[in-house]
Amino acid sequence: MAPPYGPDERGALDGQGDGVPALPTAELHVHLEGTLEPELAVALAARNRTPLRYAGLDELRQAYAFSDLQSFLDLYYELSAVLRTPEDFADLAHAYFARAAAQGVRHAEVFVDPQAHTSRGVPLEVVMAGLGEAFRTAEQRHGLTARAIVCFLRDRDPAEAEALVPQLLPYRDVIVGVGLDSAEVGRPPELFERAYALAADAGLHRVAHAGEEGPPAYVESALDGLGAERIDHGIRSLEDASLVARLREEQVPLTVCPLSNVALRCVDRMADHPLRRMLDAGLLVSVHSDDPAYFGGYLHDNVTAVTRALGLTAGQRRTLAENSFRASFLPEAEKQRHLKAVAAAAGAPA
Ligand code: ADE
Ligand code: ZN
Repeated sequence: MAPPYGPDERGALDGQGDGVPALPTAELHVHLEGTLEPELAVALAARNRTPLRYAGLDELRQAYAFSDLQSFLDLYYELSAVLRTPEDFADLAHAYFARAAAQGVRHAEVFVDPQAHTSRGVPLEVVMAGLGEAFRTAEQRHGLTARAIVCFLRDRDPAEAEALVPQLLPYRDVIVGVGLDSAEVGRPPELFERAYALAADAGLHRVAHAGEEGPPAYVESALDGLGAERIDHGIRSLEDASLVARLREEQVPLTVCPLSNVALRCVDRMADHPLRRMLDAGLLVSVHSDDPAYFGGYLHDNVTAVTRALGLTAGQRRTLAENSFRASFLPEAEKQRHLKAVAAAAGAPA
């Protein structure tokens, strides 16, 4: 079933009261576990009788102050441990899809971290049973199409990643590719060359986090060593002019997450965010939400924040939305259908 794109819906998207109209967009950089809102974490902890070490929601909320990527990951993995049953994973995914759809997301390629769950005794089958139900019904229930990208945790043994690849194959209808996330510095992409080669042989798409906290050289080795088709973050690429020239020439998609970059202090203030410089340099950038429950907003909240801080034009926001579909792993005909919808919503001829 094709998602609806009627005039009513466009009106609803425009009516969010923030002055920046939401455009149909593909969400390409969101971690499912990063959509776990504190309220749901507390509810699931109670449902599963796995108490959190916080006295209540207020105390938990005080933990959402980060100094860098690792300080965030510590809380992210701690709260992820409330997820135990297929129902938990399905509830989390449905809650995310509902929020995303309300912000203009029409297609989502969602990162999932199975090793964060298998390493504490929750089998892959449990994770995928819950996600399978939610992802397969997303279009019917929420009006967006959804696929999963399984990330290898780069701070764990690469042999674990290599062993994971064949286990993903029964879920090929839901899993569209593999990615690389978690603590970046000191864990260069080349450690995962074998895992990525196995994924490529299995016909999976490949993306990788690189150049978030790590150096521009990691972006190059993600491209050359892993065959990454998209780079997640990549903001530190700007430190290397020859890399920027290559990214522009090859039109390598970069999935940029402004609220995350400020929350994790990769960028001091939103006004300093490199997104506009990336657009001006002719890079194929799009805007995404990373871990929206932790960083203060979902996809359109990111677009709004960066628009306000950097003075993005309507034309630049249209480019970001178009780039999101161009960079997606949707079939070409689906990309074209969504691009027409962006043009219609942006008020220009298709
Ligand atoms: N896992 C969840 N969010 C992440 C991020 N921003 N960088 C690396 N790994 C992550
Ligand atoms: Zn990320």
